[in-house]
Amino acid sequence: MSIHFDLSYANIKLSELKNRFDELSLANEKLMKKTGIGNDFLGWVDYPVQYDEREFSRIKQAAKKIQENCDALVVIGIGGSYLGAKAVISALTSPFYNEEPRVKRNAPKIYFAGQNISGKYIENLLALLEDQDVCVNVVSKSGTTTESAIAFRFFKEFLERKYGKDGAKDRIFITTDASKGALKFMATKEGYECFVIPDDIGGRYSVFTAVGLLPIAAAGIDIDAFIAGEKEGYEDYQNPNFDDNPCFQYALYRNVLYNSGKNIEILVDYDPSLEYISEWWKQLFGESDGKDGKGLFPVAVHFSTDLHSMGQMIQDGPKNHFETVLVIDEEQSEIKVLHDDADLEGLNYLAGKKIDAINEKAFKGTLLAHVDGGVPNGIIHLKKLDAFTLGKLIYFFEKACGLDGYLLGVNPFNQPGVEAYKKNMFALLHKPGYEALTTELEERL
Ligand code: PA5
Repeated sequence: MSIHFDLSYANIKLSELKNRFDELSLANEKLMKKTGIGNDFLGWVDYPVQYDEREFSRIKQAAKKIQENCDALVVIGIGGSYLGAKAVISALTSPFYNEEPRVKRNAPKIYFAGQNISGKYIENLLALLEDQDVCVNVVSKSGTTTESAIAFRFFKEFLERKYGKDGAKDRIFITTDASKGALKFMATKEGYECFVIPDDIGGRYSVFTAVGLLPIAAAGIDIDAFIAGEKEGYEDYQNPNFDDNPCFQYALYRNVLYNSGKNIEILVDYDPSLEYISEWWKQLFGESDGKDGKGLFPVAVHFSTDLHSMGQMIQDGPKNHFETVLVIDEEQSEIKVLHDDADLEGLNYLAGKKIDAINEKAFKGTLLAHVDGGVPNGIIHLKKLDAFTLGKLIYFFEKACGLDGYLLGVNPFNQPGVEAYKKNMFALLHKPGYEALTTELEERL
């Protein structure tokens, strides 16, 4: 099995989970038959068997064109419009991918923009890219998201200055709604190549559409293997046999722990390659679950780095959390600790030992310490870190998140809460139409 869920350290009896199996089956039926709340955003559920083959081959052609024409690809998007691509690319390339020589990478450098409102970030990125050949992929379903729209203005101007309007046209790739929105309108007017985010797939569930696939393919990652993993997830995680369905087990485990009084789930990884998988996971569960005063607060920590900071809080702080650990079973590297004749730091007892084997002991030692400290631990084992397994893992989390939302009694496919900050920001920026709120907020500040 490429993904396995181990409950041995979760302080939950399997029988406790099985007692709630009927409830889970009902949630699963609503999800798979698309009859539950938010069902207009369930296109991702059976997307693995609904692929638009023409769109898929256009993505591959565009990725090839980007590879041939660019030193660097700038992906502009925020939230679900960038985190999936960033997560998969970070997981499957070297931690120093952008610094590697082109012959080694065999694909352009990948930068992200429009995921913050920092002038310094945009300014420095534009300066860095001044003498490089650049392509841009703008990803926005609505087409009006402030962060990405601001960034795109800069990069459109940058490309038009460098290559002229016609040259820029060949370097701009748009991923947006099929027929509506400002970005679609602009793309049609300017003649940019466009890819579609289906109506019934929301941002954080869109990694397997062009949103994720175009930048992932441009980075030279095998998207056929990636979607094959997604398809296997679609098939395996329908298995009604609870013992053989790690996705069902994970969904119920987090719900049972939530009902027992835990309100924070900490996702733990032990390799920097997985840091952005954790960031993507945080967005998926945070935006999906946190509604009506309910939901587990998703936190990510990166060990062993954060054992020297957050480790203290997890071990000895209030016991309101549990950990879910992502472990890659296959070793990532062969390098071994060096011998030193002086041995001043007393490290020679490790000489000749693989770094990965030491990391494994760090994981096991931490697991037992945290369990002894009263922190339940569930472990998600990935057999290896490759495109296939990541495709399956992403589907695993998406499905568990949908199931969990239904178990919680919330709509896991909307995000009404994120509108509050936008309304205030627009009012404070004096956006036309917000005049009354502008006066009210300015009086409060
Ligand atoms: O998951 C979501 O739906 C959100 O995080 C969106 O992806 C994010 O707000 C960006 O929206 P858009 O793609 O419309 O620019």
